[in-house]
Amino acid sequence: MDNYFITRPPYSKIRMNKGKASLIRFINKGFRYLKLGLAINPIDTAVDMNTIEQRINYFHLLDQVIANDIDGDVIELGCFTGQCALILQKVIEQRRSPKQLYLYDSFDIKFRETGSIEEVLKNNFVNAGLKVPLLKKGFFEETLPTMLPEKISFAHIDCGFGGDKIAHSKVVQYCLNEIYPKMSLGAICVLMDYNDPEINGVGHDANPGVKIACDEFLKDKPEEMVCLYGNQFFHAYFRKL
Ligand SMILES: C[S@@+](CC[C@H](N)C(=O)[O-])C[C@H]1O[C@@H](n2cnc3c(N)ncnc32)[C@H](O)[C@@H]1O
Repeated sequence: MDNYFITRPPYSKIRMNKGKASLIRFINKGFRYLKLGLAINPIDTAVDMNTIEQRINYFHLLDQVIANDIDGDVIELGCFTGQCALILQKVIEQRRSPKQLYLYDSFDIKFRETGSIEEVLKNNFVNAGLKVPLLKKGFFEETLPTMLPEKISFAHIDCGFGGDKIAHSKVVQYCLNEIYPKMSLGAICVLMDYNDPEINGVGHDANPGVKIACDEFLKDKPEEMVCLYGNQFFHAYFRKL
């Protein structure tokens, strides 16, 4: 099976000029040839929304949901230009799954992008040869109450923007409250930026509000967060019991 977005990141062409990308590939080939155990894997935190390790995690978590025939569709809350969503749609199509991908975003945060974020997202799917998912534009408070699918088998919450951690934790809690009742048994919810320093050790904690929100939300529930290795970024998931 072609794990395209793991072995070859889909957006390296977008964020990096061709010369730089091929120089890095050349250096990494040299490292492999010399058996040094080194590799250059640059991340620009203002442009890159996930790491290779996280892409591997998304691939296997969604693949598992599909293989286990968990009921429901796939959603992402905070899709920006679709870097994670491309992987999710790729897995759905590779597995010929009937699951529909729904993307929710206000599309008003640009980071370093220019022009319409929605258009960039659509073009990324077209250029990758993937079906464009259903887009639900607006603030979560406007879209989630009426525009979620009936049942959810996989959710990715990634609504960080580096802002105030308490304000952010409220948004994450709101998302969790809305989607949890619709998650099927065995469904998976991945929380971008969930960082438990006791497990992960020291690292750049981009959005500490995520852990605050999840821990508060799960404190009276049977589910527990499972931290996954994400290299430069953090994330974790829980499985609906
Ligand atoms: C870090 S980006 C998501 C990156 C994306 N998952 C990817 O892989 O490219 C966070 C996104 O969350 C969205 N967002 C944050 N708070 C929101 C809210 N209350 N309602 C709707 N969208 C929101 C922002 O517009 C932004 O596009």
